[in-house]
Amino acid sequence: MQQINEVNDIDLSVPINSETYRELAREKIDKKAFGYIDSGSGSEWSLVENIKQYHRYSLVPRVLRDVTAVDQSITLLGREIRAPYLLAPVGFQTIVHDDGERASAQASNHAGIPFVQSTVSSYTIEEIRAALPDAPHYFQLYWPSDVEVCDSLIKRAEASGVDALVITVDTPLLGRREVDLAHAYFPMETGAGMANFLSDPVFQAKYNPTGTLTESALKQAIQKILFHPGLTFQALKKLRDETALPIIIKGVLNKDDAKELQALGVDGIIVSNHGGRQLDSAVAPLDVLADVRAAVGPSFPLLVDGGVRRGSDIIKALALGADAVLIGRPYIYGLIDGERGVRQVLSQLSSDLQTNLALLGVTDVSQLDQSYIKNAE
Ligand code: FNR
Repeated sequence: MQQINEVNDIDLSVPINSETYRELAREKIDKKAFGYIDSGSGSEWSLVENIKQYHRYSLVPRVLRDVTAVDQSITLLGREIRAPYLLAPVGFQTIVHDDGERASAQASNHAGIPFVQSTVSSYTIEEIRAALPDAPHYFQLYWPSDVEVCDSLIKRAEASGVDALVITVDTPLLGRREVDLAHAYFPMETGAGMANFLSDPVFQAKYNPTGTLTESALKQAIQKILFHPGLTFQALKKLRDETALPIIIKGVLNKDDAKELQALGVDGIIVSNHGGRQLDSAVAPLDVLADVRAAVGPSFPLLVDGGVRRGSDIIKALALGADAVLIGRPYIYGLIDGERGVRQVLSQLSSDLQTNLALLGVTDVSQLDQSYIKNAE
């Protein structure tokens, strides 16, 4: 519970929002690295649409409610988190700042919200676990086509005590990202994103038994097994039987897929088009959110991501049925200033959300429903 008008830790000497950090990132980091984080696949239709969908809705406030105290905390997978958003899995974060995922995880820990660590992060599962003593640690899995390496990563996640597995299913192969193709850029070429594989005993034993492989040969070995175009519901079913960890499936847009996954026993779903980086022209998640919510029922954990930039966006997503949202690019723009920059973006977002909830006449995010929004079209 936070008091309205309470002095918070907004620092006026730094950028005021993630859009301003984005412009700084454009100036400050390598052009190819900026292209990688900022761009989308193909024509970038989905990337643009993700943002536009939030502009389709306006907010309809209630007045004369006592809003002296507003609570934006929620419970997710049985744990209280301080705000209804998570840091999305974003790979290769050392292309933005040397501290990469460790800085982002520390900022998440400070904010009391979950950090979702990418498979292709530049710090290991165990290192990120240690950076999150007070906030949930979810491990995102790109299900490797090598089943033994896949099992080993899952075992390490279990052994290190992560809170959940987030399995990304919209990436049987990489989307066609024309900005990166034009730059001939793949971030692993910089040495980023390999930590979980290089530290994996099974990966090393199978692909580098003599320990003499060159860095470029190691990259090729990782790239060859990173995605699994043959993955089906069967493999998930098997994993559901084998692991006690909560499983959240990321990258679902079809309500029937959502129902099938729910029936299979997963613990939550993230409605997502991967920030417009995979299927070009994939529907914007916000556009299908209410239908997916109707399909899975009122109490199934349902998250959404893509295009969330402001507190008002979070309000719209929650009003349409999400329990929480994930943010990707906004915190990555903040990462140009390391942990401090990510903290700043999170603090700005929570402050924006807090103010807008009060102005909307809402004292607890659980009160949000469709009566607070109007389709502006
Ligand atoms: C991603 N995303 C992503 N997703 C995932 O499951 N594993 C990953 O490793 C990555 N890596 C990644 C890198 C970069 C640079 C970006 C921008 C995104 C997708 C991410 O988790 C999320 O779905 C989107 O970023 C959400 O959209 P916004 O918030 O960026 O608009």
